[in-house]
Amino acid sequence: MKDCFGREIDYLRISITDRCNLRCRYCMPDGMSGKVCHEDVLRYEEFLRIVRAASRLGIRHLKVTGGEPLVRRGCSAFIGALKAVEGIQTVTLTTNGLLLRENLDALVQAGVDGINVSLDTTDPQQYRLITGDSGTGGVEEVSAAVFAAAERGIRVKVNAVTMPGTDVLSLISYAREHPVDVRFIEMMPIGYGRLFPDSDNRRLLARLAEVFPDMEPESEAALELLLEAVGRKRAFSFAERHSQERITKKHGEGPAVYFRIPGYQGSVGFISAVHGKFCSSCNRIRLTSTGFLKTCLCYDQGADLRAVLREMTPDGGPSPEADGRGQAGRTLGCAEPDRDLRLEEVMRAAILNKPAAHCFETPDQMTEHHEMSQIGG
Ligand code: 5AD
Ligand code: SF4
Repeated sequence: MKDCFGREIDYLRISITDRCNLRCRYCMPDGMSGKVCHEDVLRYEEFLRIVRAASRLGIRHLKVTGGEPLVRRGCSAFIGALKAVEGIQTVTLTTNGLLLRENLDALVQAGVDGINVSLDTTDPQQYRLITGDSGTGGVEEVSAAVFAAAERGIRVKVNAVTMPGTDVLSLISYAREHPVDVRFIEMMPIGYGRLFPDSDNRRLLARLAEVFPDMEPESEAALELLLEAVGRKRAFSFAERHSQERITKKHGEGPAVYFRIPGYQGSVGFISAVHGKFCSSCNRIRLTSTGFLKTCLCYDQGADLRAVLREMTPDGGPSPEADGRGQAGRTLGCAEPDRDLRLEEVMRAAILNKPAAHCFETPDQMTEHHEMSQIGG
């Protein structure tokens, strides 16, 4: 469906847990702050019920995220169940990759359509510093998982949040050796991300354009970023060398813009969440692990879908399915038309009211104070 600004909302990110096996410095360096209790987290069948309603409203693409989604048991089977929901076209996963190799068979079997692996460095020591990983071989494990997934024919992207000193060139080398897109994400001032210096993709791209003078913008939007990074004259000299047909090639549905480097199997992408505001074409909403539907990263606005799912009866007692004493067929997951309609209605109203744009440039206007692990990135 369209929101009140005419944006087609067809993408839902689902955080299935706020727990994680890492402690990234910009995410949850001291562990989880307000740890959510077990019964507040939605059960898989509750998520599925929301997704069925979302699909009726036009959601077509799903991303399963966390925290770290693979720490929750049954994640792959859940992805399989999401794939079976009528109207859903793609289901992808975002993971830190530590548990990916051991889950790869199950994920392939579930029919996952793509996997984004968060990896901010290829250097073992940096990795420990950034992620708080106390084990050995974290980088090696995650890299092996990236390559193994690509070898299985899965569409794999490496997502690196950039910080001062990020080893961009060695991250990019993953795209040379494997059919893997490597994408650089500007640090957003969310949670501990606020404590980091501004990272600007335009600066990064200007540097890369020096190193790879033959890199090709894949879209008008990529050309525009290049223009901002290196100035009109140089940007057009990049563009002139490539046919218009290649420049207008579509790559992905999301906000990333891509460049090809001749001889590389994967592309290099930029997600400029802060400096390249892409809110006017935003197609996404987010569901937290506790069932709150968030309509923009920046604000606490949205709808409490768990309340609708677990609504009390008018006399204050639990609804029939909540205490298991409901009449036959009235358990969750079975048709319960009124509640499903209500879910749909509440979601429709929230989507309609999706804010026009984020306000990362004026952080004191932000009303979202949760950590990224609770929001799902
Ligand atoms: N800014 C940008 N990206 C972030 N992520 C977590 N916190 C931030 C932030 N402040 C990323 C993770 C992961 C994704 C789910 O969100 O690194 O790639
Ligand atoms: Fe875990 Fe991702 Fe947060 Fe790192 S950024 S602590 S991997 S949820």
